[in-house]
Amino acid sequence: MSELTIALTKGRILKETLPLLARAGIEPLEDMGASRKLVFPTSRAGVRLLILRGSDVPTYVQYGAADLGVSGKDTLMEHGGHGFYEPLDLKIARCKLMTAAEAGVPPRNGRIRVATKYVNVARRYYAEQGRQADIIKLYGAMELAPIMALADEIVDIVDTGNTLRANGLEPREAIAEISSRLIVNRVSMKTKHGAIQPLLDQLAAALEVPKAG
Ligand code: PRP
Repeated sequence: MSELTIALTKGRILKETLPLLARAGIEPLEDMGASRKLVFPTSRAGVRLLILRGSDVPTYVQYGAADLGVSGKDTLMEHGGHGFYEPLDLKIARCKLMTAAEAGVPPRNGRIRVATKYVNVARRYYAEQGRQADIIKLYGAMELAPIMALADEIVDIVDTGNTLRANGLEPREAIAEISSRLIVNRVSMKTKHGAIQPLLDQLAAALEVPKAG
């Protein structure tokens, strides 16, 4: 039987992916949220789970260090999506990737500054819009950038909009609808097809079952 390695990330993706994996008969043998470990054996022999930084999940799957992974579409768009397939929309951790700016401040003409951790996405998006933008890479707390006059706009994920409102910002343009996707290394898809295809089918079936509660 082939070994399967599945890359996950802590937080919402882990919380919402574990019940789906459980319905496919894959359960970690210990509480992944509570442990400092990064590799976890599961109830299914030969299947192990990795805990990575979100932005590292596509990289592990791209190079085949993990066979499968669960990653937000925002992270996949930023990564570029090389080396793997994206066969399933898990429809979890849904949000929007948006531009945002200080509430009530009209959009500036000419060249603007945009702060974001999604530099590739932002560069593509503003170019497509025909707007000139200097992209400034940040690693977090993007909402602060317009307030502190570091940038005119930000590109970030928006769920409830509470974080924007709490910082005097407002959403502007929607760039993409985001949800978590299952990704599969291209080579693993061929060499481990016998193990991966049934898992894809089981996860697809699990998505059809209404969530309890
Ligand atoms: C995201 C994002 C915003 C917030 C938006 O951060 O960066 O800060 O969620 O959610 P809201 O619209 O419901 O307020 P997250 O908590 O995922 O952590 P991160 O900053 O590490 O991305």
